[in-house]
Amino acid sequence: MVYGNLHFDVRDRIATVTFDRPRTLNALSDDVMTDLGGAVDEIATREEIGGAILTGAGDKAFVAGADIGELATQGPIDGKARALRGQAVLRRLETCGKPVVAAVNGYALGGGCEVALACHLRVASDRASFGQPEVKLGIGPGYGGTQRLARLVGKGRAIDMILTGRTVSADEALQIGLVNRVVPHTELAGAARDLLDGILAMGPIAVRLALEAIDRGFDLTLEDGLLLEANHFGLASATSDMREGMQAFLEKRKPRFTGQ
Ligand code: COA
Repeated sequence: MVYGNLHFDVRDRIATVTFDRPRTLNALSDDVMTDLGGAVDEIATREEIGGAILTGAGDKAFVAGADIGELATQGPIDGKARALRGQAVLRRLETCGKPVVAAVNGYALGGGCEVALACHLRVASDRASFGQPEVKLGIGPGYGGTQRLARLVGKGRAIDMILTGRTVSADEALQIGLVNRVVPHTELAGAARDLLDGILAMGPIAVRLALEAIDRGFDLTLEDGLLLEANHFGLASATSDMREGMQAFLEKRKPRFTGQ
């Protein structure tokens, strides 16, 4: 499908979503979030898509936040509704069942940082920077920042970032676990693709179940999380892909997974 505010391309099983609103440094207007919702639905439902990469057009910004022009006029009711809509889109992305990598090419601020947080993995250009600067505007994060950032980097670091609104460099983001890799700017697209290609060579059911167990298990008691894991372990044992993976190892060849 064609979207007004982002590009959606599919090549070799990878969907690439590129935010493209150069005049606002790719800020997330309501229309962008609607487009992103459509793209997420395509990623989740189109069988030929194995995983996705999210990135920003241009050299400067991944996404510089929610569109401040739109936020400026909101009141309590539509403000809450906007947050809930954005949160729902990003939760659908996070639970789409396929691996999603953020290729962060520049500023990932506010909603941009929150989009990156909802992806499963983050690869950053050495020029990227991250932040939740909403307090500077008299508002807080609204697309999951207070929840996902604390879960990813720890409560203390999340409080530091969110209360100061400071910008974190790519190197610091790597050091605190906010990103998984930092690469030279010109190598970003290739590095994100290589990472995802490697994951797409694995059994897709195993990848899906692992994502689900980590996501759904995170807030359970250890006992319940372990039971979820064991159930998934048993379920994977019913797949042809498990037989194929083990057989390929024993025969010293590459597995040919079919997702069955
Ligand atoms: N919403 C709407 N417009 C935005 C925007 C946003 N989140 N971020 C940047 N823009 C616009 C700017 O208003 C400017 O528009 P103009 O050319 O019509 O004046 C244009 O994008 C370029 O931004 P500019 O501020 O001139 O670039 P810069 O290199 O000096 O600074 C940033 C870049 C990202 C540091 C700065 O734009 C910024 O702080 N943006 C807001 C970040 C933020 O608070 N995000 C959270 C929102 S809740």
